[in-house]
Amino acid sequence: MPVYHKLGRLPAKRHVAFRQADGSLYYEQLMGNLGFTGLQSLLYTVRRPTTVKSVTVAWTTPREAESERPLRMRHLRAHRLEPAGGSPVRDRELLLFNQDVSLSLTRPTATDPFFYRNARADEIVYIARGGGTLESQFGSLPYREGDYLVVPRGIIHRLAPAAGEQIHLVIESRGHVRTPRRYRNEHGQLLEHSPYCERDLRLPSELTVHDETGDFEIITRVGDTCHRVVMDHHPLDTVGWDGYYYPWAFNIHDFEPIVGRLHQPPPVHQTFEADGFVVCSFVPRLYDFHPEAVPAPYNHSNVMTDEVLYYCKDEFMSRKGVEFGSITLHPDGLPHGPQPGRTEASIGVERTDELAVMVDTFAPLQVARGALACEDPGYGESWLEDA
Ligand SMILES: [Fe+2]
Repeated sequence: MPVYHKLGRLPAKRHVAFRQADGSLYYEQLMGNLGFTGLQSLLYTVRRPTTVKSVTVAWTTPREAESERPLRMRHLRAHRLEPAGGSPVRDRELLLFNQDVSLSLTRPTATDPFFYRNARADEIVYIARGGGTLESQFGSLPYREGDYLVVPRGIIHRLAPAAGEQIHLVIESRGHVRTPRRYRNEHGQLLEHSPYCERDLRLPSELTVHDETGDFEIITRVGDTCHRVVMDHHPLDTVGWDGYYYPWAFNIHDFEPIVGRLHQPPPVHQTFEADGFVVCSFVPRLYDFHPEAVPAPYNHSNVMTDEVLYYCKDEFMSRKGVEFGSITLHPDGLPHGPQPGRTEASIGVERTDELAVMVDTFAPLQVARGALACEDPGYGESWLEDA
């Protein structure tokens, strides 16, 4: 995030001797993206970040798409999929993917015994149910229902879920996840017309130094392959850090909706941008207030875009038949709009309580083979009057 932050103890200058109580040096590490030109942070650790004892392949999960690629409206009842297990890293149920982004569902039941690092992708973890603490090299960050947890690539971390049901939508992004460009000034600060600002963001707040030796595993994802990296010490031994590169949280309920007298287009819901896709938040809001306004969206041909909606409640203004956990995919090539009766029903309604996360991709998405088990096969005909 383009917000400077620091935690713990730091030397007065960067790249100077910073000594531990016994006179030995702390170890300085720069972590940042875009080859020293992007956002970066400097971390100071008790032990070297380079003491790797071994690296082996832990598992490989090739992304398998359905054998045919039909052109039709899709509806996945994702929460009905039987979870493979309770690990937020290992047990990701892949739903949709292309070369830029993938969407998976997890249902964590416990803290993994290992740590995790995604080497090639930024991750947005949307907390549809539950809460807990994100533990990382940058300190701990409590999370709760409705949070988007943004974890830039390379950061060693793990999720420690609290008691109770946990459901996460995991968005892996080839490009860097960032705030929408049009809401930022040249310095990176969010402007007055942005639907959220820096005050709404939550950053790591507490740094615990784990000064421990022994074998510690870091599952490191490189594309489809997860490697087991064994280090000789606890990887969360940061005594201090500062900079602009760290995990952060933003709650969907802190997104202040932009409304108008007449229907506002989907970009007003945009929350993040990345390379090849955007993420939008549909939150409870007042409807359009022109006396003859039609609050439901007009039909649209979203050419050059595949549109995904993840429904975080059972209701949604323009859809029928969806449930909490539904995912609809409206692919490029077919116009879409409200189902019969939804447009008429929206007229005169003053507000909506809908809650949904939208992912619009510029390249076509594929449906993962494993997701077909939860598909609603009749969704494509649900716009017919007698469906
Ligand atoms: Fe749409």
